[in-house]
Amino acid sequence: MKLQLTINAKTHEIDCLPGETLFTVLRRLGYYGVKFGDEQGLSGSDTVIFDSKPVNSSLMLAAQAAGHLIVTIEGLGEHPDQGWRKTDGLHPIQQAFVESGAIQCGYCTPAQVLAAKALLDKNPNPSESEVRQAISGVLCRCTGYAKPVKAILQAAAVMRGDSLPETGQGWGWILPDDQPPSSGQTPTSGFTTELQTRVMPKMVVAPQSSPYQTVGKPEKKVDAIKLVQGKPAFTADIEPRGMLHAKVLRSPHAHARIKNIDTSQARALDGVAAVLTWQDIPRVVYSTAGQSDPIPGPLDAFSLDNKVRFVGDRVAFVAAETLEIAEAALKLIEVEYEVLDAILDPAMAMQPGAIRIHDEPEYVNFADSHPEKNLAAEIRIDIGNVEKGFAEADQIFEAEYVVPKVQQAHIEPHVCLTYWDEDDRLVIRTSTQVPFHVRRILAPVLKLPIKRIRVIKPRIGGGFGGKQEVLMEDVAAHLTIATRRPVLYEYTREEEFTGARSRHPMRVRMKTGVKRDGTITANEMYALSDTGAFGCHALTVTGNTGHKSMALYVGDGEYRKAPNIRFYADVVYTNTPPAGAFRGYGVPQGYWPLDRHMEKIARALGLDPLDFRLKNAIHAGEFHPFSTAWNEGREPRPEIINTVGLERCVAQARAASGWDDKFGNETWHRSADPLTSTKRKGIGVAMVMQGTAIPYLDMGGASIKMNDDGSFNLLVGATDLGTGSDTVLAQMAAEVLGVPLDDMICYSSDTDFTPFDKGAYASSTTYISGTAVSNAAQDVAEQIKIRAAKILNASAAGKVYAPGDLRLAGRQALAPDGRAVSMTEIALDSLHHSEQKQIMAVASYVSPSSPPPFAAQFAEVTVDIETGSITVDNLVMAVDSGIIINPLTASGQIEGGMLQALGYAVCEELRYDALGAARERDLGDYHIFRADEVPGLETIFVETFEPSHPFGVKAVAEIPMDGVAPAVGNAILDAIGANVDQNPATPERIWRAIREQKPSAS
Ligand code: FES
Repeated sequence: MKLQLTINAKTHEIDCLPGETLFTVLRRLGYYGVKFGDEQGLSGSDTVIFDSKPVNSSLMLAAQAAGHLIVTIEGLGEHPDQGWRKTDGLHPIQQAFVESGAIQCGYCTPAQVLAAKALLDKNPNPSESEVRQAISGVLCRCTGYAKPVKAILQAAAVMRGDSLPETGQGWGWILPDDQPPSSGQTPTSGFTTELQTRVMPKMVVAPQSSPYQTVGKPEKKVDAIKLVQGKPAFTADIEPRGMLHAKVLRSPHAHARIKNIDTSQARALDGVAAVLTWQDIPRVVYSTAGQSDPIPGPLDAFSLDNKVRFVGDRVAFVAAETLEIAEAALKLIEVEYEVLDAILDPAMAMQPGAIRIHDEPEYVNFADSHPEKNLAAEIRIDIGNVEKGFAEADQIFEAEYVVPKVQQAHIEPHVCLTYWDEDDRLVIRTSTQVPFHVRRILAPVLKLPIKRIRVIKPRIGGGFGGKQEVLMEDVAAHLTIATRRPVLYEYTREEEFTGARSRHPMRVRMKTGVKRDGTITANEMYALSDTGAFGCHALTVTGNTGHKSMALYVGDGEYRKAPNIRFYADVVYTNTPPAGAFRGYGVPQGYWPLDRHMEKIARALGLDPLDFRLKNAIHAGEFHPFSTAWNEGREPRPEIINTVGLERCVAQARAASGWDDKFGNETWHRSADPLTSTKRKGIGVAMVMQGTAIPYLDMGGASIKMNDDGSFNLLVGATDLGTGSDTVLAQMAAEVLGVPLDDMICYSSDTDFTPFDKGAYASSTTYISGTAVSNAAQDVAEQIKIRAAKILNASAAGKVYAPGDLRLAGRQALAPDGRAVSMTEIALDSLHHSEQKQIMAVASYVSPSSPPPFAAQFAEVTVDIETGSITVDNLVMAVDSGIIINPLTASGQIEGGMLQALGYAVCEELRYDALGAARERDLGDYHIFRADEVPGLETIFVETFEPSHPFGVKAVAEIPMDGVAPAVGNAILDAIGANVDQNPATPERIWRAIREQKPSAS
């Protein structure tokens, strides 16, 4: 049917189908700022302005839009400088998003900006709660909403004509280390609008960080301007001619053999280009885990198999001219199954006689995999003499804890596009954290040599570990090989819940021996970990559960010198969707039991919870206890921890949270609702450490090339998931080269052009890839100085200088006598004038260490003792992540991480029915926090200078996932005097705990 649509004040005459949505039509017309997040409109990433209201374009027929005014993000502002054509620049809301650090992955950004515009057009002076309400229909999994809210309030002020402080002025506090702030202290900005939300974190700076020009500054993200305009930067934003759409037929059974598949009707359907079953493609066993070679886990997966192992497992692939035809074809495939017994409970998997989930002869064992026992991995780590430690204890504390399966829920689903290029090389454009691992792992699966595969990683709309998996690229690739045509495969939201990866659920037993004075004599953890149907990341995730949590508490006195720690785990196969990597990588599973247990022990012994933890916590200069015993399936190598800022973090967060006024204060406990007296307030703490990269294994790489105008191309294989890693890597290079960030053109990543990098995981990019960038920049700087000295010395007058006499700053090479050569002069001389040479360098780096960041996490809650309902009121996190390269992006990581972790604490959980079918299948069933549901989020950075990195950094991305749940659990205990040992701490579980009134100690 023919329609006339008015989009951004431009009229379009279109042909569309009667049932076609406005979303589909907008994207077909090239308005790629409208994004797919889910089918129900619950993510809100499909938001456009319809007349003056924000609406979900995927819930509206295109025909309904005729005669109305549609505004998309492309109708707002644009980059001010378009060559000879100058524009009005970005809209004030877009500008504020760029300046406030409100953009992380940027996938939700166009929708948030449009929702904000609809609000401000109606209400130019909104309150913070009105702003939160206005954008509550647009889910963001990255930011914690603090900076988007601030950006909208800032834009409103600009649009009203109010004057504002620049970002970084008046918002960040530099705190003295010896004088923590008192509770309730507020910034003095003179800002007229009342704000609860700050852009910049509080900082306790390390003395070594002061001389930097770019490092340590709240620079704008290098990709912010394109993302805020909704440019076609993501995987699905490019659609080659002749592109087919892929769909996957998924198993309705948790465990079954495929006896027969009849695809004849599906193949005969008009518009179907290919239908593939296990009989049509090579049978190659592999691991979907995106890890370095050799994969530290079993090879137990096939692109398609004659057996299905969970509800949602793959049965057949279809490629068709349209999505609708592909979906229709799925319904025409007839499958005859032999249904097998299914194991849904991990404890049952280990029972003698349990049905074997992996009986395929191609299975490749890794270390301690035992498929005959349904064991994907077995971990046995003993440090010191644990039995002796227990024997020497005055008291033994034992308890069991349960942690749930949860989903990454990045707003951009898994998506990839494959096509043959003109050289008959297979191009895989994919939203992945690990492009180089995708290429290496898929080559044998596709029967192609690595050199005939090119993987392009465009912008990623969030990953959180879910895209550290070679999860679905093979589907599109097989279909491109079969059809010779480009194929796009994009997960539905339901597929994200039923056919993607998740956090390993675990049942964890703790046993701790303690002296009366609070000295831990021995500490033991046993984890029964459920990897689901495949063993991807099974060993390494579960290993980290013990490795990075149990290492924190070594004991005190003699025990500090020789800690007694045991970590055992069984990682079992079940007939449930596979678990995998999820931000935190096993460590949040360790801290729920460990820190809940520490709280119980402190209370039972009548010790101060902060003092008890700090008494036993690891110190700088001590060995990481696990470094002598375990290293993700590789040879362990002893490692000394150089920097521990934990005690300083505790001091800062203790003051900021008001701990001293609240903990143990009965009046405060009852202050939430003194009249009805059904509400109790509570405050809790958790202390955590993480890791930074995987030592002696994972490599980062970078190359830097100088251009004619003195700018630089920075090519990195690292992948920015929205973390801001492109920005901080460019900041480090700019610092070394003495140029503004604007002069660094960062590109990541393309396996044909960018140096090898292991990708984004294990909190490694700033540390590993950052060192590679710094080394490459140092090499380029040396070349620049040689050229500059030559130019300077060639001039008639002045002293002769050696390259080492020069320094780079302000786009110049500067001599001690004040003479200078500009970067442009150096570039032109090098490229065009004399002894011509391209100034460039490549460097790579593998770390011999994994310096842990540390943090103190405080949480404040209000619990209704009648109903069990809980409100988390405030989260304060003080973090030692070494030197902070960019406080804006780093604090965004902490805020977003805390909110994501809050879901783990109180509401997120994947559950299955008795037949193994997922109960949570959309973003309605599976609740992630909206902008109007967020507690106070406060970030404090306590800097240390980590000597193993050129700029002193440690990791920041994963540690906010670790402490929120146990801090909330401890706060609940503080509020109600009863323990919830299973997270998430839902109202029902809290209500039951109140009824059972478990004692607070074993
Ligand atoms: S920035 Fe909002 S989803 Fe990533």
